[in-house]
Amino acid sequence: MARVFVTSDLPGDAIDRLRESHDVELWEGRDRPARGDLSGREALLAMVVDPLDAALIEASPELRAIANYGVGTDNVDLDAATARGIPVGNTPDVLTETTAELAFALMLAAARRVVEADRFVREGRWVDWRPDLLLGRDLHGATLGIVGYGRIGRAVARRAEGFGMEVLHGVPLEELLERSDFVSLHAPLKPETVGLIGAEELRRMKETAILVNTARGPMVDTRALAEALEDGRIAGAALDVTDPEPLPADHPLLGAPNLVIAPHIGSASHRTREAMADMSVDNLLAALAGERMPHCANPEVYG
Ligand code: DGY
Repeated sequence: MARVFVTSDLPGDAIDRLRESHDVELWEGRDRPARGDLSGREALLAMVVDPLDAALIEASPELRAIANYGVGTDNVDLDAATARGIPVGNTPDVLTETTAELAFALMLAAARRVVEADRFVREGRWVDWRPDLLLGRDLHGATLGIVGYGRIGRAVARRAEGFGMEVLHGVPLEELLERSDFVSLHAPLKPETVGLIGAEELRRMKETAILVNTARGPMVDTRALAEALEDGRIAGAALDVTDPEPLPADHPLLGAPNLVIAPHIGSASHRTREAMADMSVDNLLAALAGERMPHCANPEVYG
């Protein structure tokens, strides 16, 4: 029986399954657990917002397995984990379609001003029908540029084809930005994708274009985006992720026009979040039984 630290409660009954064979300590605070909390734990089930850097890994000598609850592992220093022989599990595939659905929901919401329209009605401003009321942009016939043509990027492309959009990917970023009516980000966060969309890239986009980010916040320079929206340099943005997360209440982005924003809920459907919990627990159970994790982000750890 190993001591396992789980940094957040999870949907479904996966944690009960873990409890059947291990000593599980569940963090129930609303804040993130303090960094010292890992001492004595042999396994960790962490959220994608828990920073697991080299210092933390080095200071946790008993740790021998990490399961990250998400497909992204940019919160984990994989090299440090590998150096210590610690496998890091993640949850690919199971959230692909759900995240693509949210990218599409946000794209439609921004294009057709759904959030603004909802507010308009609730505020009692709907007094008559007018031909120019809340005009938005069509998806059909528009070009969608996809940055990062992996599992989720391809799932978004499939939906775009059904909507009659032309999909653009695999061309140089400058060209993609200049030609697209919608730009949707799906690349992983790595040193080379931090700040991928800054002031210069936003300037390259059409004035009528909308930026969608369901990948990771630091891929977009948040302040440059706030300025571009404020100055009307692009028509709108739809974000599920920001930098930082959460945004402080007085962050300039929150005052920017034509912005639809969500709190990092790309994979947040009941079914998907339960499936992610099952995968995370399966990864930990395998590692603690001395077997290979079914979904491992640093497979080189197995030699
Ligand atoms: C991930 O999986 O990386 C998401 O950000 C959380 O589902």
